[in-house]
Amino acid sequence: MQTHEIRKRFLDHFVNAGHTEVPSASVILDDPNLLFVNAGMVQFVPFFLGQRTPPYATATSVQKCIRTPDIDEVGITTRHNTFFQMAGNFSFGDYFKRRAIELAWTLLTNPVSEGGYGFDPERLWATVFYDDDEAVGLWQEVAGLPSERIQRRGMADNYWSMGIPGPCGPCSEIYYDRGPEYGIEGGPEANEDRYIEIWNLVFMQNERGEGTSKDDFEILGPLPRKNIDTGMGVERIACLLQNVDNVYETDLVRPVIDTVAAVAPRGYGQGSHTDDVRYRIIADHSRTAAIIIGDGVTPGNEGRGYVLRRLLRRIIRAAKLLGVDQPIMSELMTTVRDAMGPSYPELVTDFDRIHRIAVAEETAFNRTLVAGSRLFDEAAQSTKTAGKSVLSGTDAFTLHDTYGFPIDLTLEMAAEAGLSVDELGFRELMAEQRRRAKADAAARKHAHADLSAYRELVDSGPTEFTGFNELSSEAKILGIFVDGKRVPVVSHHARSGNEAPALDRVEIVLDRTPLYAESGGQIADIGTISGTGTGGGAKAAVTDVQKIAKTLFVHRVNVESGEFVEGDTVTAAVDAKWRHGATQGHSGTHMVHAALRQVLGPNAVQAGSLNRPGYLRFDFNWQGALSEQQRSDIELITNEAVEADYAVNTFHTQLEKAKSMGAMALFGEAYPEEVRVVEIGGPFSLELCGGTHVHNSAQIGPVTLLGESSVGSGVRRVEAYVGLDSFKHLAKERALLAGLASSLKVPSEEVPGRVATLVERLKVAEREVEKMRLATARAAAANAAAGAETVGRVRLVAQRMSAGMTANDLRSLVGDIRAGLGSEPAVIALIAEGDNGSVPYVVGTNTQAQDLGLRANDLVKALASAVDGRGGGKADLAQGSGKNPGGIETALAALRAEVARS
Ligand code: ALA
Repeated sequence: MQTHEIRKRFLDHFVNAGHTEVPSASVILDDPNLLFVNAGMVQFVPFFLGQRTPPYATATSVQKCIRTPDIDEVGITTRHNTFFQMAGNFSFGDYFKRRAIELAWTLLTNPVSEGGYGFDPERLWATVFYDDDEAVGLWQEVAGLPSERIQRRGMADNYWSMGIPGPCGPCSEIYYDRGPEYGIEGGPEANEDRYIEIWNLVFMQNERGEGTSKDDFEILGPLPRKNIDTGMGVERIACLLQNVDNVYETDLVRPVIDTVAAVAPRGYGQGSHTDDVRYRIIADHSRTAAIIIGDGVTPGNEGRGYVLRRLLRRIIRAAKLLGVDQPIMSELMTTVRDAMGPSYPELVTDFDRIHRIAVAEETAFNRTLVAGSRLFDEAAQSTKTAGKSVLSGTDAFTLHDTYGFPIDLTLEMAAEAGLSVDELGFRELMAEQRRRAKADAAARKHAHADLSAYRELVDSGPTEFTGFNELSSEAKILGIFVDGKRVPVVSHHARSGNEAPALDRVEIVLDRTPLYAESGGQIADIGTISGTGTGGGAKAAVTDVQKIAKTLFVHRVNVESGEFVEGDTVTAAVDAKWRHGATQGHSGTHMVHAALRQVLGPNAVQAGSLNRPGYLRFDFNWQGALSEQQRSDIELITNEAVEADYAVNTFHTQLEKAKSMGAMALFGEAYPEEVRVVEIGGPFSLELCGGTHVHNSAQIGPVTLLGESSVGSGVRRVEAYVGLDSFKHLAKERALLAGLASSLKVPSEEVPGRVATLVERLKVAEREVEKMRLATARAAAANAAAGAETVGRVRLVAQRMSAGMTANDLRSLVGDIRAGLGSEPAVIALIAEGDNGSVPYVVGTNTQAQDLGLRANDLVKALASAVDGRGGGKADLAQGSGKNPGGIETALAALRAEVARS
C-alpha cells in the first residue's frame, strides 16, 4: 500500500468517526522552547492546556514532524527518520481511553477491502504505563489482546510529553511483531527492532514543568479536561505494508536512494553496510532539508538554521564518501519534490526557493571543504614534522567548528595521511561546546508556567482590538499584575513601608483596547490608560503592549497617579502622533516589499520585518548583494507608488481565498482560517496582515532607502526612513553636502568632481614624496658607505642617521649599504633619534664578517646597553630600540670597540 493511500485511509477512518480534518501545521511554531514541531499534537497545545477553546471536540491530522536528537541513528537502525509524518487523532475533553483504543484497533486490523490496514491481530502487542490497570483491561476487552501480549513499562517508555513544559500523560503503545528473523522474542521489552512501535496513544491529562530527562520532571497538576493525543508513524506503517526492510526503502524515500545510485560508483544493497548507511542518510536528510526550507528556514550557525546546515552537509559528505564527485543537491531536491509533492504542495509551489537555498549551501560547503583540506594538510604536516603520529583533538575540533568537517571526514583523511586522531580530546572539546550551548539555551527559556497567571483571562476570551477605528476607547479592567502576580488594586498612594508596589512593572489587561500589541513586525503602540468616574485622576503611561496566547493584550504601564482597581472603567488612548508614524512605517514596509519583488522577482521572499514610527527594515531571502541600480529602482518604484496616492483597503476572507488572490504570507507563520488582507493600489501590494495602516499611500510620505546589508547566509536586509524622518534624513545629508561645498569652495554640484580631482592630485603627490624619500635614502646610503672605516680586517659603517628615521628606514638602508660594500667582511650599524624619544638601531653583517665571529645579534647588544634599550635578531640582521638619545655616541663607540676586538 502506497504512503499516500495510508494517509488517506487514516484521515477517512477518523473523519468517518466524526473528527474534523485539520491540515498539517508548519514545522516551525512559535514556541521558543521547541526547535521544530515534533508531534501531531503541537499545534493543539493551547487546546489541551485550556488556554483556548477548540473549535471542534475531536480532530485528525497528518503532521510534518522533525526529530533530530537521534540523527546519528539514521540509516543504522531500520526505523529512525529525522523527518516523518505523524498521523494522529485528538480528543479535547471528548472521548478517552476506550474509544481511542477501539478506533486505533479497528483501523489497524480491518481488512484492506474495508478501508483498514489489514494487520494480523496475532502480531500486535501493546504496552501500557505500569499502573494503568484500566488500559490493560480495555486492551483485553475492546481488542481481545491476551494478557501475555500486554506489557507494563515505566515512565521513560510509557509517559509522554513534548520534552518541554506542556501537556503530558501516561501512554499506551502498539507494536507489530516482524518475526524471528528480526531478533529474539519477548515483546517490545525484549527487542524494539523485531517489535516495531507503530502507534502511540497518549492519555493526556496532566501538565508538566521543567525537568532533566524523559522520566524526571515535575507534574504541575491536572489539565482542565482529559484528552486523547495519538501518533501513528506513517513511514513505519508503510515499511510494514510495503514489505521492505526499513523506512528508507518505502515508496517516498527510496527514489532518493535511486537518484544517488544512478551517479555513484558503488550501488545500494551491494554488501557494504557502511555504503548503505550513507545512502539512507542522504535519503532521509534530503527530505528533511526540503521540508524545513519549505517552511522558511535558511542555513545558519545556530538554532534551526544550524540543524538545516548540518543536514545538508551530512548529505554532501555522505555523497562524497560514496564516491560521487559532482554536485548532487539539485537532483536530490527534484526527487524529493516529485515524491512528496502530492502530499505537500508547498514543495512544488516553492520549489525554486528550496532548490536555490539547498544548492547554494552545497556550493558554499564545497568551497569550505577546499579551505578545510588546506588546514588539514598543514596540521598533518606539522604533526609529522614534530615526529608525532596523532593529530591533536584541537585540530580536529577546529576543522569541525570552523570548516564543518565531520569527525569521520577528519578520521578518514588522517588515515590516508598515515596518522591517527586524538578522538578523546576531540570529544571532550565537543562536550564542552555543547555544555556552553545548553547553558545559553537554558538562559533563554521562557517557561509555560510563567503564563499560568494569565490563563483565567485567556480563557475568558480574546481582547477586542478597537484601534482600527478609534484612537480612544472606554474599557473595563479585567486584571492587574505586578511582577507577574495578579493583584486586585494598584495604587500610587499606598507607597508606605515594605508594601511599596513596583509602579513601573505593572501590567493591565482590559476587555478592549485601541492600543496595538507588537506583532507582524509592527512594534507596540504607546499611550495612556486613565481612570473615569470614581477612579478619576488615575493615570498610567503605556510603554509596551504584548499578546499572550496570541489573544490576550497585556499593557505594560507605569502608574503615574491615582489608583486602578480590577473592574474599573477606564479610557485607553493611543498616542496619536505615534500611531500616525506607526501606520507610515507599516504601510511603507508593504510598499518596499512590493517594489522589491517587482525588481528582484518572486524569489525574494520575506524573511522578517520590523517597523516603528519613521523607520522600517525588511529582511528577505536573496543570495549576494543588491546592485546600486536595483536599490535605486526599488526606491523609485516605492516612491512612485506613494505618489500615486493609492487607496489602502483592508478586508477579511478565507485563508485559501487570500492565497489564491496572490496575497503575500510569511513562511513559517500559522494563520487562522479567516485572515485579514491589506491591499494597496489593487495588484500593487496584497498581504496578509493584522497591522495598522494609512488610508492612502500618499500619507506615507517620502521613503528613503538607507542601504542594504547581509544578515546571515542568504538573507539580505534593506532599511528605510519614512515620512518626516525620511525628510530629516535627506535634510541632514543636504547639510553635509553644503558643508563640504563650502570647505571645498565650489557649488554643491561640483563637489564630486572636485573630490575626484583632489584624490587624483593626492595620489600624484604621494608618489612624488615616495620618490624623494627613496632618493634621499639612496643618497644617505651612499654617504654612509663612503664613510666606511676599516677596523681590523673589517669594513665598518657605524653612523648616526638623521633624526626621525624609523627602524624600517634603517633596515632598508643597512641592506643597501651592505650590498654596496663588496666582498670584504663588513659590519653596518645605524642608529637614529626616532619619534617620541625612541632610539631605533639596526646592525647588519655579511657572511664574511660572520665567518670572523661577528654576529649582528651579539653586536646589537653593544648598542643597546648604551641607550637603555634591548635588541635581538639573527646573525645577519638584528635590531632594537632604546630610550636614551644621549647615549648614541657612546653606543657607536662601544660597537666600534667590539668590532675591533675580532
Ligand atoms: N504525541 C504522541 C507522540 O508523539 C502521540 O508519540
